Amino acid sequence: MRRYPRSAEILERNRHYIPGGVVSVNRATSPEIVFVKGEGAYLWDAEGNRYIDYHFAFAPHFLGHNDPHVTEAVRRVLSDGASLYGSGTTVLEGRLAELICQNVPSVESVQFLNTGSEASYQAIRLARAITGRDHVIVMQGGYNGWHNDVSCNLMTPLEQLGPRVSPGEYPYKPISAGVPLDHQRLVHPVNFNDLGSVEHVCQKCPVAALITEPVLQNIGIVKPRPGYLEGLRRLADRFGFLLIFDEVKTGFRHGLAGYAGIAGVKPDLSVYGKAVANGYPIAVLGGKKEWMDWVVHPEAGKRVLIAGTYNAHPVPTAAAIATIERLLMNDGEVYRHVEALGGLMQEGLEQLVNRLGLKAVVARQGSAFCVYFMSHCPWDWHDLAGNHDFGLDERMRRNLIERGVYYFPVATKQCSISFAHTREDVEVTLNHVSAALQEAGSARGAGVQPV
Ligand SMILES: Cc1ncc(COP(=O)(O)O)c(C=O)c1O
Repeated sequence: MRRYPRSAEILERNRHYIPGGVVSVNRATSPEIVFVKGEGAYLWDAEGNRYIDYHFAFAPHFLGHNDPHVTEAVRRVLSDGASLYGSGTTVLEGRLAELICQNVPSVESVQFLNTGSEASYQAIRLARAITGRDHVIVMQGGYNGWHNDVSCNLMTPLEQLGPRVSPGEYPYKPISAGVPLDHQRLVHPVNFNDLGSVEHVCQKCPVAALITEPVLQNIGIVKPRPGYLEGLRRLADRFGFLLIFDEVKTGFRHGLAGYAGIAGVKPDLSVYGKAVANGYPIAVLGGKKEWMDWVVHPEAGKRVLIAGTYNAHPVPTAAAIATIERLLMNDGEVYRHVEALGGLMQEGLEQLVNRLGLKAVVARQGSAFCVYFMSHCPWDWHDLAGNHDFGLDERMRRNLIERGVYYFPVATKQCSISFAHTREDVEVTLNHVSAALQEAGSARGAGVQPV
């Protein structure tokens, strides 16, 4: 077993000043490894071990760590003397807004924020202002950030959730303390892929918005059934709520137009983050101009406050422009590359789980993939939680880390391929997955045998 003495020392020191020693609690995981460098498809830890990275900091580095084109754009903006002015507009924010509106058909107008959570918060606030209603529908198994409307019902244990409810809603199960009960009553978690439950809530309550990732990518890759996203659009039009796509993970990764572009469904509002700036902190709230204009509504009482000292800071703004330019280059070379590697990975994983005689499926959308140890690709969290072998998943991930392949060591977490990965990285990874699964199976005594 690998040991990480330098990492342990750093963590111990940080514990004096940071609760638990780690900022952003979702990063606190085991093995406790401190990383010190990222370049392209690789990560290095404090002991000097190299890893092929598939975690990518929860997925922003779509071009790879420290993409040279993006790094150069950041260097340039700093050496040109750009700063944060906090008064009036800037050429850079105009350029980024234009690039996004020209390339994302459902986005006519945008605001920039710093994080996905800020963007989803403001999308819901905008929907409440526009509709004059307070209730919000969220997905069981979806993640849209840390604020009160959405910090609930992610990987809720089935013992807490109870039997499947359909049509109907689950109780609000906070993933943070401190959410007022009165606020919890405004939020309605339902199954993904379940139009009947959305309709059920709309019959009961005045709903301002439904927010969903178009593919649930915080519990692996849970895809919409054919017609589901179209059905949400119809229900939004029928009941008068705003349809918000949270494309923080899917946006720019699955094409410039995000998953909305693939599905051909137009949400009212969308939020983006992560891959839009290849790891620099910026998020986008965008949508129909008619809705976005509520930010400058002529009636003060209807105007929605979207403000932030650091919004459209020149460094992440320049990074986002450079990232989108890279995504546009050679008529989609980045997307062709990651799709080819994604296909190779999927095929290889399917062959090896078959060879090992495992009950397993590979779920994939472009560059994002996940192995589920169950008989079918799940349709929602309840299906996944009741059928997936979480123990085997976690053991596979830990064994891979020992072998220098970094899958985040929490079961079902999405794996991400970047433009910096090569065919050789995929082939090396597949060999390691094969060995990791055999070790994981024999550790359980389940008799995973090559056949
Ligand atoms: C789909 C989705 N929405 C929103 C967020 C929140 O973004 P941030 O962590 O930048 O606040 C995340 C973060 O993982 C996410 O995956």
